[in-house]
This record gives sequence, structure tokens and C-alpha cells, in this order.
Amino acid sequence: MRPKITIVGAGNVGATTAHWMLTRELGDVVLTDIVEGVPQGKGLDLYESTPIAKKDARITGSNSYDETANSDLVVVTAGFPRKSGMSRDDLLKKNYEVMQATIDKVVALSPNAILILVTNPLDAMAQAAYRLSKFSRNRVIGMAGVLDSARFASFIAQALEVSVENVQAFVLGGHGDTMVPLPRYTTVAGVPITELLPGEKIAQLVQRTRDGGAEIVKLLKTGSAFYAPAAAVTDMAEAILRDKKKILPCAAYLEGEYGIRGLFIGVPCKLGARGIETVIEVKLTAEEKAQLEKSAAAVKELTTVLGV
Ligand code: NAI
Ligand code: 2OP
Repeated sequence: MRPKITIVGAGNVGATTAHWMLTRELGDVVLTDIVEGVPQGKGLDLYESTPIAKKDARITGSNSYDETANSDLVVVTAGFPRKSGMSRDDLLKKNYEVMQATIDKVVALSPNAILILVTNPLDAMAQAAYRLSKFSRNRVIGMAGVLDSARFASFIAQALEVSVENVQAFVLGGHGDTMVPLPRYTTVAGVPITELLPGEKIAQLVQRTRDGGAEIVKLLKTGSAFYAPAAAVTDMAEAILRDKKKILPCAAYLEGEYGIRGLFIGVPCKLGARGIETVIEVKLTAEEKAQLEKSAAAVKELTTVLGV
């Protein structure tokens, strides 16, 4: 039997995630959304593409949760995206209400699922979903680090004119202006970028990565990025559904790792059938540790506002 995947929110990220998942035959997908007809229409359109793509996957859409029952994986993209001039944090309260409206319903019908959160502000929404679902920490995972490191990797590949396949980028911290791209652990064919690019150029690429979401918002004007975010979710989903034990940067609930307790923040994690199977701790310099602590403090401010 194919795995069952629910995607809550059939907007740009949700529908594009369904598309990527279908092309990788990760499982049967149920799209759900509050807007009547949209999940059904996008689901049907995607399903009609399967004979051309030569992929076996059922994809359906619904405005209710009944069809989502017994999902193995639930991806939550429901909420509002950033508009030009808006920070991710402006979305905080609006999207918390969406978490309150969705998480209880979806987990009641899929009590054994693994949750991947996408809705922004990401780390705070992952923490809200963790509290609302009452799932164990290995089954609630935030997507941000895969996207942020893909952005960093793509900029590095462009700067060095090398294949993106050669670049392994490393980003820690919250999904926001305080994220912590780590050049020391970022390599091209195994060589740290600190050996390949001048410090000034690295600093520019780090800043462009931190501003990566805003750069797209500014260009699109009416929404935020969705192709790369959806590809990032799909990579995480594949690691879980195919039990790949793949190490990917994820927002995870820390219980003392990196000196942080009781908070979601981006760290490298081993993803497999049980969700987050291990949080990987790497040694940080005093400066890197200070940056991570600053990022954790920014997330903590939001979770404190929400009381989660
Ligand atoms: P979108 O506006 O295209 O889609 C959001 C969908 O959620 C809409 O179809 C809307 O009807 C639906 N929705 C709203 N309330 C709902 C509810 N109570 N139940 C079910 N569906 C509901 O937005 P987009 O671009 O898909 O982004 C979705 C979220 O993901 C935003 O919060 C955005 O900021 C975030 N995001 C996070 C990223 C990350 O790296 N973590 C990357 C990209 C987007
Ligand atoms: C991004 O980084 C909007 O958070 C989203 O593109």
C-alpha cells in the first residue's frame, strides 16, 4: 500500500508540494483547504497529469478532514504568506489562529502521523503545532533549513561556477533575519568555502541567504516563494517515507541540545521513518554559538507572545 499524505492548505506551497511529491511517487495525496473547489480542482488537475508523467499516485482534494484519516504524513501549509513590506513575524497571530483551526482536526484523524510544518513564522508555528498536537517531539518537524541551505548552496554554485551537486551548505537557527548560515561547515566537493571565496564575498552570500525570502517577495509582489519551499518539503517527506536516515536541517524541539531547551530552532537532524531520529550536535565557535543564541531569543519572543 502506498503511503498516505495530507497537505493542509492547497495554495502555492501546498499545491506545488503535491506536484513534486507526485513526480517522485511518494504516495497518495489528499489536499485540503477552506476555499471551496480549490483543493478539488487542483487535486483533479494534478491527478490528470499522472498518465503523462507516468507516475502512479492518487491525488484528491477536499474541504473537510474526513478524507485525510489515517495519513502517514501531514504537511501544514495553511495560512497567509508574507506580502511586500511585511515581516514573517507580522504573520504571527493570524497564522496561530490557523494552527488552532487545523491541527486538532487533522491529528484527531491521523494520530500516528508525522507533521511537517511550513506556515510562517516557521519556528513559532512548529512550536504551536507541537503543543496543540501533543505529539512526541520526533513527530513534529519544521521546514526551513532545507530551503535556506538550498538558497545558500545555489548562490555559492553561481559564484564559483560549479555544479549545485558539489555544494553542501549548512544553515542553523530560526527561519528569519537571524538565521545562521555557517561558512565553516559549508563545502564545495568537501572543501570549506572559506578556502575558496574571499571573506567579503562569503559575507555577501550569507546576507543574500538571510534575505532570500524577502528577495522573492519583493519580485512577486503578491505572495512569497513556493517552488523551492515545496521542493524542500518534498525532500524531507522522502527522507521520512522512504526511511532514508538523511541528515537535513530542520526546525526541531530542543531539549538541551546546543544549550537550548524547550524551543523549536533549526538544527541538523537525521530524518527517517520515526521522523526526527537524532538531533546532530556540531561544535560551534563562541561567535557561532552567540549567533545561534540570538536567533533562539528571536524565536522565544514569538512563542512567549503566543504562550506556547
Ligand atoms: P497561499 O496563500 O498560496 O496558500 C495558503 C492556503 O492556506 C490558501 O489556499 C488558504 O485558503 C489556506 N488556508 C487558510 N486558512 C486555512 C485553514 N484554516 N484551513 C485550511 N486551509 C487554510 O500561501 P503559500 O504561499 O502557499 O504559503 C503558505 C504558508 O507557508 C505561509 O504562511 C508562508 O509564509 C509559509 N511559507 C513558509 C516557508 C518556510 O520556509 N517555512 C516557505 C514558503 C512559505
Ligand atoms: C521564504 O523564505 C516565505 O519564508 C518564506 O521564502
